[in-house]
Amino acid sequence: MSQRIVILGIFVADAAYRADRLPRLGETILGHDFRLGPGGKGSNQSVAAARAGGDVHFITRLGQDAFAQMARDLWADAGITPQVTEDPESYTGSAFIFLEAATGQNAIIVAAGAAARISVADVEARRSLIEGAGVFMTQLEQPLDSATHGLRIARAAGVRTILNPAPAAALTDEMLSLCDIITPNESEAEGLTGVTVKTLADAEAAADRLIERGVGAAIVTLGEKGVLHRSGGRSLHVPARAPGPVVDTTGAGDAFNGGLATALSQGASMEQALRFGAAVAGLSVTRHGAAASMPSRAEVENFLRV
Ligand code: RIB
Ligand code: NA
Repeated sequence: MSQRIVILGIFVADAAYRADRLPRLGETILGHDFRLGPGGKGSNQSVAAARAGGDVHFITRLGQDAFAQMARDLWADAGITPQVTEDPESYTGSAFIFLEAATGQNAIIVAAGAAARISVADVEARRSLIEGAGVFMTQLEQPLDSATHGLRIARAAGVRTILNPAPAAALTDEMLSLCDIITPNESEAEGLTGVTVKTLADAEAAADRLIERGVGAAIVTLGEKGVLHRSGGRSLHVPARAPGPVVDTTGAGDAFNGGLATALSQGASMEQALRFGAAVAGLSVTRHGAAASMPSRAEVENFLRV
């Protein structure tokens, strides 16, 4: 059985440039290639969750332009139910992505456009959709008050809440206390707690700080070191594993979060859900692009068998 997953977040068109290294300020360098494709953390998470078999409804805001059509085509193909506010006064966002060829690591500037105007009223208009969900998940690319409103509605209705605190932002204890699960990466965990996260023990210490501040459980994503789940003084660690060379880590965190949400919406245990999310992420880093690199459920199940 699949419970409804409601995701609140942004869509942007990712313009990704691959080069040997990042340019310095004032410098021009020659790159290897350019790709334009769908991105935005909330949309990427929705695609990961839907391709992995979840029943996904995505709340966002778009302009009325060619990138908005890119979004609609993507969601139709992935089987996502869009909950879109159209904004004639703004534009659909885009992101500029520098990719380092040797490592697949990136640096990104996001201009969220219309999605930066997602309002509390946009979220309130989807109250009953959220209240009827099994999982509500959001990130921090749209305004904080809108994300908080979604978390409040979900919490009051007993819906499981997941916050992916990306990009990093200062969060109040009230916001943290609305999260059943928070999923920072190393630098976000450090930004939220002041604990430098390099090792698994550091991740445990940062997670415990977040739990003291009110979250139910913390999952710290650690790149090639995998993911660490912490709650009630106990840890679960799932190592990272990819079926081939890493070519592009853009959206790897989104892949994990989407896979996690789908597994939890289908009644998986936390350990199963962590393994499922890590498998979605492991497959995604072997392919180019963000949303474009999210695997199908069959691919995830095959990879989990080996
Ligand atoms: O998490 C990866 C995403 O972050 C990219 O797709 C980019 O659009 C930024 O929002
Ligand atoms: Na990828």
